[in-house]
Amino acid sequence: MIGTNMNFDFTEEQLLIQETAKDFARTEIAPTSVERDINAVFPGEIVKKMGELGFLGMMVSPDYGGAGLDTLSYVLAMIEISKVDASCGVIMSVNNSLVCYGLEKYATEHIKQKYLVPLAQGEKLGAFALSEPEAGSDATKQTTTADKEGDSYTLNGMKNWITNGINGDYFLVMATTNKEAGHKGISTLLVEKGAPGFGHGKKEDKLGIRSSDTCSLTFENCKVPVENLVWEEGKGFNFAMNTLNGGRIGIAAQAIGIAEASLDASIKYAKERKAFGQTISNFQAIQFKIADMAVKVDAAKLLTFKAASLKDAGKKYYKEAAEAKLYASTIAVEIALDAIQIHGGYGYVREYLVERYLRDSKITEIYEGTSEIQKIVIARELLKD
Ligand code: CAA
Repeated sequence: MIGTNMNFDFTEEQLLIQETAKDFARTEIAPTSVERDINAVFPGEIVKKMGELGFLGMMVSPDYGGAGLDTLSYVLAMIEISKVDASCGVIMSVNNSLVCYGLEKYATEHIKQKYLVPLAQGEKLGAFALSEPEAGSDATKQTTTADKEGDSYTLNGMKNWITNGINGDYFLVMATTNKEAGHKGISTLLVEKGAPGFGHGKKEDKLGIRSSDTCSLTFENCKVPVENLVWEEGKGFNFAMNTLNGGRIGIAAQAIGIAEASLDASIKYAKERKAFGQTISNFQAIQFKIADMAVKVDAAKLLTFKAASLKDAGKKYYKEAAEAKLYASTIAVEIALDAIQIHGGYGYVREYLVERYLRDSKITEIYEGTSEIQKIVIARELLKD
């Protein structure tokens, strides 16, 4: 691999992060995950503890309240958290990748001190608002507007599918500041929860990741101080694309966590379940499925570690991030389906967790760029002159 360490002998620090995340997920997240999924309850206390452990600002410099870790550590932690609860995984991913990363890289010192520090320390939770009812994959078609007058912008419009939309404190909102300029007229504004004119819709009743909150946001003559402009006017679309590249690494890790959980559950079940006088792990039909699942998990890990390593090395990584997300999300759904098949009827009921893994896995093919969008990103890079 050009210019990157692809040996993946993880450092002691990276292994410690992985172990800490694993312990935390088992002891603090697992006990309530089934109930939170059924009743769609946000994991408020867990998110607070994740913040205290540094899981919400993993890659942010200690100068701004973060843990100062690399992307590989973040990936390892995301896998462990998502393996136990993919809802906690997405909450963590959005705060780290889409909010903290973008603020540290592009925001003014004022914004960093005022907003990034509490976000990285886990005292506040962030959300990222790009999608609109008519602008999902076609993200340049932003209709939310921000008109500048004096020392504030007036924000009008609607966003939807916003993770942390209800429980978030600080929102990065992409809005059009210059209608004539197309995507170069989009800017990013940081909006605080409770700002007059800023509201949210009902919590979406989702197929999976039900414990995370997702809702629409509305802005009606909502005033945002000009100092809350992130980066420069007209740079909002580039801001969104650049942060989403890192976000896609996070979602790839989330998908791997779900896939690995499906694989582990399948191995356990195959060794316990008896049919035709022996455990089903003796049958090649089951063995081949498990072997295929394991190869897919490992391949997804390699792609994701590669993208993370490129990012850590300061190299271009957006094609690799798209490849990692595309592949990891595809195999997460496939493996969850195989896990249900191995479990037979037991896989179809709530008592065994594999039905949740399937429901949770599907979103990884949709958010932070659908699989089709990832293919566009990959193909454009390969086919460009
Ligand atoms: N990285 C960096 N820059 C990128 C980029 C990438 N992956 N993809 C596009 N860009 C840049 C281009 O270089 C170009 O920049 P300049 O104008 O400075 O040259 C600009 O973006 C416009 O690009 P295109 O001309 O290629 O625009 P397009 O409209 O043809 O395609 C797209 C753009 C790739 C389809 C883009 O709209 C896209 O990625 N869509 C998917 C949006 C998405 O991922 N939404 C997720 C919502 S957030 C979410 O899910 C969060 C959550 O809560 C979990």
